[in-house]
Amino acid sequence: MINYTTIKAVIFDLDGVLVDTAIYHFQAWHRLATSLGYSFSVADNEQLKGVSRVESLELILKWAGLEKSEQEKEQLLIQKNQWYLALIEQLNPGQLLPGSLDLLNKLREKHILIALGSASKNALNILQKTGIVDYFDALIDGNVVSASKPDPEVFLKGAAALGVAPSYCLVLEDAQAGIDAAKAANMQVIGVGEADNLKGADDIVANLAALVDKF
Ligand code: BG6
Ligand code: MG
Repeated sequence: MINYTTIKAVIFDLDGVLVDTAIYHFQAWHRLATSLGYSFSVADNEQLKGVSRVESLELILKWAGLEKSEQEKEQLLIQKNQWYLALIEQLNPGQLLPGSLDLLNKLREKHILIALGSASKNALNILQKTGIVDYFDALIDGNVVSASKPDPEVFLKGAAALGVAPSYCLVLEDAQAGIDAAKAANMQVIGVGEADNLKGADDIVANLAALVDKF
């Protein structure tokens, strides 16, 4: 169980927690995998959630039994991101997930610090398009992190940027890799989504709306 009275900072994952972008990552990876002759499943996609773009491609190539040169991999990464960017071109505040805005407002009101802890290199673009960038006291994204979740680096950097000890931080995550990363960082963590994909979380909610009254 979470002890909400001890929480001084909340670190949000982005894709699939605040914004409904996980589906676009799935669609872009699916298209790329199909172009490589690999049948990419929903279960495969679950394993890519929270994982960096480069590591995601490595996993798909491994599953497909394919070897590519560094140059070819570079091209595939560019292609996937181009398809992803086209899908999020029209992103707007309407694609914020239920409770996102209410929870951000509540945390501000309660003077609880807010950080982003995302693997995405497109995070700033997404926060700007959905109009929530100004809520964040610290932004830790794929451009400043070298080790992918489940490594705790992204969350430890978030806590350090806020000046809050890890044990006072609460992480909100929709990916198993993110739950594992938060635990490795010695933080409390709430899984957002289906319990099957969020093992080890301190609590699980369907979406952020369930958390607004907790603070
Ligand atoms: C994570 C997503 O937030 O960011 C992954 O869960 C994605 O699916 C990763 O691959 C990297 O995102 P981007 O935008 O840098 O390709
Ligand atoms: Mg996510």
